[in-house]
Amino acid sequence: MNVGVLTSGGDCPGLNAVIRAVVRKAKKVYGDEVFGFHDSWKGVMAGDYEMLDIARLRGTLPRGGTILGTSRETPFMTDDGLDRCRATIDNLGIEAMVVIGGEGSLSCAHAIHQTGIVPVVGVPKTIDNDVALTDQTFGFDTAVSIATEAIDRLHTTAESHDRVMVVEVMGRHVGHIATWAGLAGGATLTLIPEEPFDIEAVSDALRRRHEQGKYASIIVVAEGARPIEGTIEIVEPTVDAYGHKKLGGIANVVASEIEHRTGYSTRVTVLGHVQRGGTPTPFDRVLCSRYGIAAIEAVHDGAFDMMVSLKGQSIVRVPLAEVAGSLKYVHPQIWSTAKEFFA
Ligand code: F6P
Repeated sequence: MNVGVLTSGGDCPGLNAVIRAVVRKAKKVYGDEVFGFHDSWKGVMAGDYEMLDIARLRGTLPRGGTILGTSRETPFMTDDGLDRCRATIDNLGIEAMVVIGGEGSLSCAHAIHQTGIVPVVGVPKTIDNDVALTDQTFGFDTAVSIATEAIDRLHTTAESHDRVMVVEVMGRHVGHIATWAGLAGGATLTLIPEEPFDIEAVSDALRRRHEQGKYASIIVVAEGARPIEGTIEIVEPTVDAYGHKKLGGIANVVASEIEHRTGYSTRVTVLGHVQRGGTPTPFDRVLCSRYGIAAIEAVHDGAFDMMVSLKGQSIVRVPLAEVAGSLKYVHPQIWSTAKEFFA
């Protein structure tokens, strides 16, 4: 078969490991031609691609980023986008496309499948872990371990200076990274988008700690966390060229409110894209390898408009139609366990 592969949306540790697995099985078992499109659908629209083989992917398993490049541009953004995609797909005789992306990219993949231009198989990617119908996206484990290491390091400096440290992690719609890293790192409190926070309750919790002689605290804040309406003012984020909100900075608001309300010395660490860069953890490398193999198997089984997904210990297939437009929120049991350790 002639199979296309592309990486879409924000980058994520493990993208190359997925591509490597797709290519390996496609070449060794099925004898496919694999076309790697550059910068997501932009490459399809422009006919910009490279032929992928096992040698091209050598050494990429531990490498962060994506050898194919990525973008948030979709064929639906311009009048002739779909026509240009169709032309490339027809010219090259592409029979299937493996799309590696988060919720937005998978929704787009589903929509493209529906146009009949090319049948698609999706692979769930994002450090945010918010893709529905999978227990875990790849990249999440890596981001949690980076954030946890940062929290571990912040504990000692917080203790030396009797300070409050506010750590901002990624998570625009959901607080998976914050919840897991907060739990793993022994956070005093964790603030997530799912549950608007009360800054006075946060300040009270810190005051109570001080009364008990505990002068150092770590507050983990997901970038998408928001205060209860009407409590404190926050500036609405600007959007990029694709209408994607540029988040980041809520930790500064939280920190300055805490300092102002309690008088305790407070510092901010915004982890930002550090969480997305660099090498994937062993868990993610294994998950990516399994996802990549499962994706090319789905292509050969004709299981299109589906996403490969982790359910318990197994990789299964789920309909992209059900993934599109949905999000997976922090599991209530994990959140309540995290809360057991607050303050
Ligand atoms: O990939 C998801 C994510 O990491 C979000 O948590 C974050 O808000 C966003 O990407 C930032 O992406 P960019 O800076 O590439 O727009």
